[in-house]
Amino acid sequence: MSEYVIDDRDMPKFRVNRAAMTDPAVLERERERIFDRTWLYIGHETELTKRNDFLTRNVAGRPMIFFRDHEGKIQVWANSCPHRGAMLCREKQGNARFMTCFYHGWAFNNAGKMVSMPSDEAYGPDFDRPGLAAPARVDSYRGFVFVSFDPEVEELVEYLAGAREYIDLVMDQSEVGMRVVPGTHEYSVKANWKLLVENSVDGYHAITTHQRYFEMIVAARGEIPAGALARSSSLDLGNGHAVAVGEPVGDGLLGRPLSEAAKAERAARFARLRERYGDAWVDRMDGTRNLIIFPNLVLIDLVMGVVVRKIDPVTPDYMEVTGWELVPAEDGPELTRHRLDDYLTFWGPGGLATPDDVEALETCQRSFATRAELPWSDISRGMNTASPVSTDELQMRVFWRRWNALVTGEQLPDEPHDPPSAFYLGQRREPAEGVVAAADA
Ligand code: FES
Ligand SMILES: [Fe+2]
Repeated sequence: MSEYVIDDRDMPKFRVNRAAMTDPAVLERERERIFDRTWLYIGHETELTKRNDFLTRNVAGRPMIFFRDHEGKIQVWANSCPHRGAMLCREKQGNARFMTCFYHGWAFNNAGKMVSMPSDEAYGPDFDRPGLAAPARVDSYRGFVFVSFDPEVEELVEYLAGAREYIDLVMDQSEVGMRVVPGTHEYSVKANWKLLVENSVDGYHAITTHQRYFEMIVAARGEIPAGALARSSSLDLGNGHAVAVGEPVGDGLLGRPLSEAAKAERAARFARLRERYGDAWVDRMDGTRNLIIFPNLVLIDLVMGVVVRKIDPVTPDYMEVTGWELVPAEDGPELTRHRLDDYLTFWGPGGLATPDDVEALETCQRSFATRAELPWSDISRGMNTASPVSTDELQMRVFWRRWNALVTGEQLPDEPHDPPSAFYLGQRREPAEGVVAAADA
């Protein structure tokens, strides 16, 4: 048995040792066995709209430059000068055909090739001029760009396993393409990174931790439909990915009421999407999903907009978080304003959800100082039910079992549950040729 996870199917109970959240040796192992081996999210292609656009991002603590090069190709470069190591780019974002290192002036184009160095005669004609270094692998799925530092990593589409379908459900909501709204929500939490992974798919805490938010929603929209939260499911998507899904509830369970014009705009689009993809797929699309893509990417699609969240450990008790809002590119100004307002109201720095979550996670971390008295956290909810729902904790156990397999080598069997109901199996009807041509015309 691993020293970090108790997975007792007879009781049943699932426990995680709090040392996994506090021990620096665990973070070291996570860096080696998880962050150096899996696919890690860097950004979305729609953040780089023009040729030569770039963003600087950290991926697992490594500074990177995320570029659309002069030919329009996505590139990822280590943000370190091959000369003696100065950080090549110290801007957060910009547009540049070339980058010149401020230390001694070596210059590179955005396809990674060195183009000049001051006084290069001192190097001789045969000198092998180094270019920029790239991570071992870069690949994308529906515009989500991932890197891996492991040349042997499996292909991204295989790695994503069942999570691909849920990315499709997010990305098919637009007829012209989803886009990341410019601007980034950056914050930090004095807690272990895995606590936010858990929290991002935790339906159980919503009503208690976010009571004020629900009071506001009830005041703005009337009662929340009875049983709305129960019409949900928690699903294991393979490879440590998991989702908590909710079925559609009227024009959405969360968010402030839409204006009549915005409602009509959304309804008309969904009617066209039904024509294109069929009811089974669009019914699913119309619900909600909180998705973990192992290890540290979260997509939260709660009708009012899609949050893309990247969670980075810094020390065992400190993480950095980056959030973006993903919206249908064709949204009119009213829907965009509404989504951004919802983002700020729920997720924002002064919002009614994120500050509560941060407080909850930071108190967990502080209280882990009592781990000699109380070494184990409990994550057993819904183990003995046939069909776990979003207020159960299967989604977290899926993450932890994969974590445990990578960190300790212990493979635990999947949890047996009933197959999901027909609703969750609805597939996309591929549009007929003529329909595609008409839609693209
Ligand atoms: S470290 Fe960049 S040019 Fe010297
Ligand atoms: Fe929350």
